Amino acid sequence: MPSSTSATAATAVHDNLVLEPRDVRFDWSRLPLHWIPDEPIATHTINVLHLLLPEGERWFVRVFKDALPMITDEQLREEVLGFIGQESIHAEAHQEVLDHLLAQGLDPRPYVRQLAWLFQRILGEKPGLTPTQRRENIIERVAFVAAIEHFTAFLGDWALNSPGLDRAGADPAMLDLLRWHGAEEVEHRSVAYDLMVHLDPGYLRRVRGMLVSGPLLVHLWVRGVRFLLAADPTLEGRLRPSWREAYRIAQRGLLPDPVKSLRSGLRYLRRGYHPTQEGSSSQALGYLAASPAARAAATH
Ligand SMILES: [Fe+2]
Ligand SMILES: [Fe+2]
Repeated sequence: MPSSTSATAATAVHDNLVLEPRDVRFDWSRLPLHWIPDEPIATHTINVLHLLLPEGERWFVRVFKDALPMITDEQLREEVLGFIGQESIHAEAHQEVLDHLLAQGLDPRPYVRQLAWLFQRILGEKPGLTPTQRRENIIERVAFVAAIEHFTAFLGDWALNSPGLDRAGADPAMLDLLRWHGAEEVEHRSVAYDLMVHLDPGYLRRVRGMLVSGPLLVHLWVRGVRFLLAADPTLEGRLRPSWREAYRIAQRGLLPDPVKSLRSGLRYLRRGYHPTQEGSSSQALGYLAASPAARAAATH
């Protein structure tokens, strides 16, 4: 539990939040296929982020643009605009990794096509709704985003506190991508939740968001790991993922602990929950001040 002094400091950092999109660039030309050396399962489990995020974060942006006219609080509106700016850049940064995977002989496109169908058709805007139905549909999708953002902040906090990846010799540019993105996820972790509560303060909305998004995210992740291991031309289908193996890898600090991830999802359902109770804005801003990519973005 944070002390009341540190909790007050954390709230002060949050209250002064101005979300700034940082136009980062990465050079992937020398990225090895297994960027955590000799750890293909850990590498590909994290690589699922590159599969999910371009389509997923473009979807966040569409949902939030749809929600913008419904916002009646000026500060929240500014935060939503900052969120849209940050998520747009995240999507493009991960897209570049996908392009690099393709150049290395791992074709991610069949899986990405399925995700595009999911985010555009199933979770996209529905045609032919009345204004009331449309408003309800937008709030429901905001609640899905809010639950997913709980996990992106959890993963961001993990990336910022994962010395195991450095010890294992993970590629420094990839670590910077994960930690820059992770830090911005921690930085803007309240925006989707605050937007959901602004549009519908009801507890049921929050629960429903997590009940849909949590299992869907786990399902997409497991499928993504299976897909990448099967599509990796150097592995020839020899490796299959398992929860036991994921747990072992997590013990070495190369992946988030699956049990802690599950517990984190359950915390979202607590009555007094707010995203500021998780992660540290000061740590996130500290990383963004030191990140090679974010520093370079500040000068161009
Ligand atoms: Fe993001
Ligand atoms: Fe986010």
